[in-house]
Order: sequence, then structure tokens, then C-alpha cells
Amino acid sequence: MRTIALRLLAVFALVCGAPASAAPDDHAGALAALADVRAAVTEIVRIEDGYAVGHGPYLRAAHRAMNALVGRRDDGYAASFGDPGDGAGTLGHLDTMLDKEGSSLWTPAIEGAKANVLAAADNLQSAFGEKEMEDYQADLTRALANLALVVGRPSQDGVLGGISGALGNTTLGVPAGIPSVSGCALPARTPAYGIVAQRLVYVALPRRSAATTIPDELSVARVVVQGDDLILYTRASDSAMAVCRRTAHLQRTRAVAPAKAVPWYTAAQAHDGIAVYRKSCLQCHGADLQGTAGPAVAGTEFLTTAKTNKWTLSDLRTTVFQNMPFSNPGSLTPKQYADVTAFLLASNCYAAGTKPFPQSDSPAFAAIKLGPIPAANPSNPKLRTCTVK
Ligand code: HEC
Repeated sequence: MRTIALRLLAVFALVCGAPASAAPDDHAGALAALADVRAAVTEIVRIEDGYAVGHGPYLRAAHRAMNALVGRRDDGYAASFGDPGDGAGTLGHLDTMLDKEGSSLWTPAIEGAKANVLAAADNLQSAFGEKEMEDYQADLTRALANLALVVGRPSQDGVLGGISGALGNTTLGVPAGIPSVSGCALPARTPAYGIVAQRLVYVALPRRSAATTIPDELSVARVVVQGDDLILYTRASDSAMAVCRRTAHLQRTRAVAPAKAVPWYTAAQAHDGIAVYRKSCLQCHGADLQGTAGPAVAGTEFLTTAKTNKWTLSDLRTTVFQNMPFSNPGSLTPKQYADVTAFLLASNCYAAGTKPFPQSDSPAFAAIKLGPIPAANPSNPKLRTCTVK
């Protein structure tokens, strides 16, 4: 089980493609569309919960809800009943968003929302003509169900997420004037919105203002405190991390020869690495290197990942020396980094040699492919790791 608060998600400071953002007015449009839906819902709920007498008040409520949904440019708009919305209507706002050229990651969600607005408008249209109160109420209940789908859920993207899901998980959630940065790395300054492949990965806010500015639509999966800032990771962050990794590894090209052993570390050095690991790495990678808040760093899981991604010793070295500890990269001395890397190699059952792992990079490392070692004799057969003494 991975701890929520601790799971510092992304990633090596690698480029994940230029962050694309929604046109700022799309963000505002989505919020306005939501406000109109809520205005319509309020009208319906108020009349259903109230004790109005006679047909008139009910008809009026249904018309007002309709006005908020369709907007004054629609034939169904009846100005005489008044409009609890902003006049443009949910439909007007959604159409403006959809009318633009090209499609975005959020387009299907907004198209789905539009279909559900039309369904709700249809329900209201039926309500106008009902003679029996029960039929009228059944129509309104259907309209409410459809409007719930329009609002959707921040925890889901795609059609099921509705407008909230699109705001909470995609570039649509980025307000005008706030920089969006690559979600594969932590932001240099806050506030910032982290984006990967049009997904909203995180919202980074200064801690002091966070309480007042956390967007409603954000479905926060993890919170990380980073100095004076809060990084709120969305549910989209898991799939985004996979994209970051894939992109990162595509960028590292190599022609490598397989390696059975890594002769570049000594047993004494690996032993020194134990203390470094305990102090600076264990909290995220686990006492058995099995991974907790961060991924596994030894054994089958790690070596299989390494093989799949064609990691070389050079990649491992770069990750450790430059990106770890994740919470404070580059904070150890070159000797500590070399020792802890030796400790990782030994824990992965690579045989020790006579030369210590160097404190500076070696071109030879790019030719050493990492992956499961068939001949290894792990002391932990389940994880397939070797205990370092
Ligand atoms: C605060 C948590 C944290 C600490 C402390 C930390 N790491 Fe990590 N580490 C992570 C996370 C999160 C990742 C995954 C990053 C990614 O894949 O982009 C990671 C990835 C790695 C990886 C690559 C494994 C893989 O499958 O992606 C290695 C190796 C690693 N860390 C080694 C270390 C070492 C050695 C230390 C101590 C010097 C350390 N880490 C300290 C969180 C941490």
C-alpha cells in the first residue's frame, strides 16, 4: 500500500513535451456553465421541496431552470419567466467551448455534458405539458438526474467526469494568468499548474494562500508539502507519471551490451551505503527496498522495470545522484551518493568487485544494461534481493 501523503509522485526533472493549456476563456466558460447548471438545479429543488399551490409556480420554476440551461439565444428561452443564470446558459457556454477548431482532451467530457443538458431540457419541455402533478415531478426528477451528469465528478475524467471532471483533470482546470508547467517536474515557483499530455497533474500553491484558493473542482489524490508550497496532485497524476517515464526513456537512446555483473563497487562501499540508505532513502523506498511512497529500488520489481525501460547503469547513476532524495535532490555528498549506489547494486545481487563505484560518471556505464540476473542467489527469495552486510 502506498501512503497517500508521502507519495511524492513525479519525477526526474525531465521534459515531457511542451505543456499545452486551454484557452483561458475556456476555463472561465466551464465555470460559468457549471454556475448555470447549479442555478437551474436550485430552481427545481426549491419548487420540489416547497409547498407551492397551483400549476403556475411549478411551470415558472421549470421555465426558469430551462432559461438557465439553454440561454437566451435558444428558442426554448422564455424571457418573461426570468433567468436565474447569466443569460448565456450552460448550453451557450458549452457551445462556445466546442465551436473552436480542433479538439482537446476535455472535448469528450464537454460533449457528453452538452448531451446531458439537452436531455435535461427535454425533460423540462415534457414537464411544461404535464397535467398531473406526479408526471410533472417525474419529469423534474429526470432532469435533475441528467443535470447531475452534467456537473459530473471531479474524481473521473472523460464523459463520466462531466464538467467537474474536465476541470479537475485536464488543462481546462488552468485559470487565466496562472502559468502551466511540465507536470513531470516540480514547479520552480508557485502558483503553477503542472500539465502532462493535457492532463492536470498538480496544482502548486503557496501554503499561506492555499486554504482560500484550492479550486472546488480539484480531486486531490495526494498532498505534498514542499517548503512553503503545497503540491496538490490530482487523480490524473498516476497515468501522467507513466507518460513522463515513457517520454524520459524514449529520450535516452543507447546501444548496450548485456551485463551479468557490475565490477565497479566494493563490498565495503556497499556496507557504507547502508547508513546513507537508512537516513535518506528508506522513508520512501522501504526497509526491504520494496518501495513504499516511491517505487522499489531492488529485486524483481525494480530489475524488471529496469529491463523493460532499458535502463543502464548510467541511468541508475543519474537518477540517484541527480534526482534523489526526491524531496531534496543533490543534497548528499559525492561519496554518499557513490556509497548508496553501491548499496543498491549489492542489494540487487550484483557481485562486488575490487574497484569502488566512482564519484564521477564513467562513459562505460552507458553500456551496462540493468535487468534481472539469472544466476543471482538472493537472500530474500520472494523479493529477490540480497542483504548487504
Ligand atoms: C521523499 C521520497 C523519496 C526519497 C527520500 C528518495 N526517493 Fe528515490 N524515488 C522517489 C520517487 C517518488 C521515485 C519515482 C520517481 C519517478 O519515477 O519519476 C523515486 C525513484 C527512485 C529510483 C528509480 C526507481 C524507479 O523504478 O523509478 C531510484 C533508483 C531511487 N529513487 C533511489 C533513491 C535513493 C538511493 C534515495 C536516497 C539517496 C532515494 N531514492 C530517496 C521518492 C524518494
